[in-house]
This record gives sequence, structure tokens and C-alpha cells, in this order.
Amino acid sequence: MVNPPSTKVAILGGGKGGIALLDLLSQIPGLEIIGIADKDLTAPGIKRARDLDIKVTDQVSDLIADHGVNLLIDVTGDPQMERYIADHKGPAVEVLGGAAAKLLWNFVQYESRLQAQLYQIEKLAGIGSFVAGIAHDINNPLQLVLGFAEAILEEQNPANIREHAQEIIQAVKRTSTICKELTQYTRRFAADDFVQVDLNRKLEEALKIARHAIVFQDLAVKKEYAPKAVIRARPDELLHAFVNLIANAVQAMEGQGTLTLVTGCEAGRVSVTISDTGSGIPKDHLEKIFEPFFTTKAPGKGTGLGLYNVKSIVEQHLGKLSVESEIGRGTTFRLQFPQAEQPHERTLT
Ligand SMILES: Nc1ncnc2c1ncn2[C@@H]1O[C@H](COP(=O)(O)OP(=O)(O)OP(=O)(O)O)[C@@H](O)[C@H]1O
Ligand SMILES: [Mg+2]
Repeated sequence: MVNPPSTKVAILGGGKGGIALLDLLSQIPGLEIIGIADKDLTAPGIKRARDLDIKVTDQVSDLIADHGVNLLIDVTGDPQMERYIADHKGPAVEVLGGAAAKLLWNFVQYESRLQAQLYQIEKLAGIGSFVAGIAHDINNPLQLVLGFAEAILEEQNPANIREHAQEIIQAVKRTSTICKELTQYTRRFAADDFVQVDLNRKLEEALKIARHAIVFQDLAVKKEYAPKAVIRARPDELLHAFVNLIANAVQAMEGQGTLTLVTGCEAGRVSVTISDTGSGIPKDHLEKIFEPFFTTKAPGKGTGLGLYNVKSIVEQHLGKLSVESEIGRGTTFRLQFPQAEQPHERTLT
């Protein structure tokens, strides 16, 4: 089958309209954003485009003159722009401006509000099901604290009292580590910016969080991490995606099997694979699992938003998500991202 030629789009205006369009359009297959223009090179849309590796310019004429462009979307709000474009664009170039651009902008805003709401719903539901695991993890050291405190009340020997006090300190430290990991996880990601992120480190963090939330029982965990698995990303969103994939894998194995986490770097791309030896996914489910609210879990056990959010997070990072599965043998989710250029930036998280 021959792929249809891609539509090459240029965005004029890097304000709120430009940034929302970038986020939406960069996820649509068969559509290429050739650049974004704004007089102000510090505009938010320009910053976002740099993160996405899209050409930026302060000269509208640069993009209009680009011979590849098929569609200009004008969200500058500048009444002079329509005339300027009409006078300078090539004959084959279509323009979306004025009321049509405003309508598109409204759609985009609506879509991104919807996506944010689904993300919040899933997070809240997720937090609900985390509670049992967390309560268990915090209750264990608390029971120890109680036991040693009671022993101290009865104890006369100062050396034994000191020993019990040490045990109490250790137990309290354990609970505060759990709390720290969880507050990191539940922090809202809205202010989260694109920085250099070490994927190996993020996977480790996700594994820790998942361990508090779901029972791993006798699962083996295998890791094969490549050095320099670094991408530009929003760290909390990636963490959220990894926790979801690990949680799904563990749930599919029902306490027995092997979870394998692999990172790799090849030809400017970084990949992450999360594999399990669990139930597998039936063929007719494979195309549905990324839809919102598709779940095979019992009512109240899953929202069916996990993979939908994973997919939108991966796409917002200009990545690709694929899945391979065999019934009774297991499932592998593979994520691929463009590699970051400078792996040793100070902001590495
Ligand atoms: N690793 C996996 N192995 C087997 N089936 C899977 C795996 N990952 C996902 N699935 C299937 O895809 C469905 C959708 O997954 P998704 O993460 O979107 O929602 P969920 O896990 O059901 O609910 P939630 O994520 O809210 O707990 C699951 O119900 C399950 O049927
Ligand atoms: Mg899930």
C-alpha cells in the first residue's frame, strides 16, 4: 500500500493557540509540522517547539516561502496577517485563519481539557487502589515502633534501651522514605517541564512505587539497562507511564513469573521495553487496549485509562508505543523516543 503524501503544516503564532496546536498536531500521523513563527522568540509556543525539535523563526516569511508547506494555520490574532499571507504565499498553499482557526483552536482546547480530565480521573482511581498497599507498607514499621516503644517502657538496661531506640529510628526512616516516594508520585505534573531524563533511573523509581502499590509476591525482576538512555521529557509523566505499564505487567502475572525491564540506544533513538510472562492479550483486544475505559478487570478494579494515558504521554514525547503479545506466554510493551543530545546536562533527573 502506498502511503498518502504527508500534509506539511506551518503554524503562525506562538501564543496559547500555537502551543495547543503543536501538542495536538504533533501526535497526528501523516502530518508534519515544518515550523512555527512568532515575532517573540520567547513565546511559550516557540519554547515548546524547541523541546519538540521543530523549526522556530521570528520571520513569518521564512515559513510562507518554504516550498514544502501545504497548509498555513494563522493563530497570530493579527488582523494584518491575512493580507500579508495572501500576498506572499504560493498558489497551492491553503490557509486556515480567522473564524476557522478560532474554531480549530476551540476544538483543541476542548480536547486537551478532556485529556487532562481523563488523566486526573485515572490518577484519583489509581490513588484509591494504591491505598491498601501503602497502608500495609507503612503499618509494618509502625508496628515495630510500637513494639520497641513498649519494650523500652519495661527495660532498665541502658544499652538495650539504646538498641531499641535505634530500631525505632530505622523504622521511622523507612516510613518516611515511602512517604517521600509517594509524594513525588502524586505531585501534580502541570508545572512539569521538559528536562533531560535518565530512563533507567525513572524505571527504578517506577518499580519502587509499584512495589508499594501492588503485590509482587514471587515475581523475578530482570533488568538490562543501556548507559546513556537519556531523553528530553517531563519526568513525572514518564514516571506515571512506567508505573502503569509495570502495574499492568504485574497484574497479568498474578504473583508468578518474570518482569523484564530493558533500555536500549540505537541510531539516535532510545527504547524501553517492559515485558511480562503473564496471561497475554487476546488478538481482538489488542486494538482496543489503548482506548479510554477499555478494561477486562472486575468492576472497581481498573478504570481502563492506564494505557490510554500511557499512549498520550508517549506521543507527547514524540515517541512510539507498540505491543506484542501471545496468549499464555506474555506481553511486551515497547516505547521508543528520540535520544537527547547532551546526556550530561545538570538537570538530569
Ligand atoms: N501486560 C499486560 N498483560 C495482559 N493484559 C494487559 C496487559 N496490559 C494491559 N492489558 C489489558 O489491557 C486492558 C487495559 O489496560 P489499562 O491499563 O488501560 O487499564 P486497566 O489496567 O484495566 O485499568 P487501570 O490501569 O485503571 O488499573 C487491561 O484491562 C488488560 O485486559
Ligand atoms: Mg492498567
